[in-house]
Amino acid sequence: MRFPVDLNSLVMTLSIAPSILSADFARLGELVRTVEAAGAGQVHIDVMDGHFVPNLTMGPVVVQALRSITELPLDVHLMITDPGEYLEAFAAAGADHISFHVEANGDVGALLDQLEERGVGKGIAVNPETAVEEIFEFLPRLDMVVVMTVNPGFGGQAFLSDNLEKVRKIRREMEGAGDPKKIKIEVDGGVDRGTIVECRDAGADVFVAGSAIFSAEDPAEATRELITLAGS
Ligand code: DX5
Ligand code: ZN
Repeated sequence: MRFPVDLNSLVMTLSIAPSILSADFARLGELVRTVEAAGAGQVHIDVMDGHFVPNLTMGPVVVQALRSITELPLDVHLMITDPGEYLEAFAAAGADHISFHVEANGDVGALLDQLEERGVGKGIAVNPETAVEEIFEFLPRLDMVVVMTVNPGFGGQAFLSDNLEKVRKIRREMEGAGDPKKIKIEVDGGVDRGTIVECRDAGADVFVAGSAIFSAEDPAEATRELITLAGS
C-alpha cells in the first residue's frame, strides 16, 4: 500500500513490543527469538516490585539473560516505588530504554540525569488516573512516553480507550514544540488486533502486546498480524 510521504516514514518507525510478562518463562529465550524473527521491534520487560503494583515479576538478571540471546532493544518498564535505586543495575544488565512512572518516588529530573549519564533511552510512564500534563515539562528530555491503557500490574486486562486522548495531547504538545517525531509514544495494556489501529490513529508508534502475542497459539503469526494492522 502507498502512503503519503510522512505517513510512510511513520509506518517505518512503528514498532511492536512484545511484553514477556505473558510468555511461558520456561521457554523465554525461544519465544523471544520467535518474535524477533517475526519482526518485533523491541522486547518489553515489565518489572514489578509488589509495592508500586500488587504483583512481583523480574529483575536485572532477566534483562542480562535476554541481552545475550537477542539483538532487539530491551525496553524496561519499571513499575516500582523507588526507581532511582535500581536504574544503575538495569542499565548495567543491558537495558536499552528504561521507563519509570511519574507517580513513583524520586525527583524526575534527577532520574533522567541518571539515565542520561548511562546513555540509556529515557522514558516516563503515566498511569490511567494521572493527568498527562504532569509530564509535559520533561518532554524535551524524553525519548519515550509510556501511556498506560490499563492499570499496571497484570497482563490480559481490558483496554482503557479513554487514555488515547493522552496520546493525542502529547502529539499536539510536541507539534507545538516543533519536533513531532522526536519522542516515541508507547501504549501499554490491552493492545491487540481489535485496539491497535485506534492506538496508531491516535498517534502512538510503539505498541506493547503481551497476551495478544504470548497467549496466542502462534506468537509469530500474532506478531506479524499486529505489524500488518499497525501499518494498515
Ligand atoms: C501491565 C504491563 C503491560 C502488560 C501488557 O502492567 O505494563 O506491559 O504486560 O499485557 P497485555 O498486552 O496482555 O495487556
Ligand atoms: Zn509494561
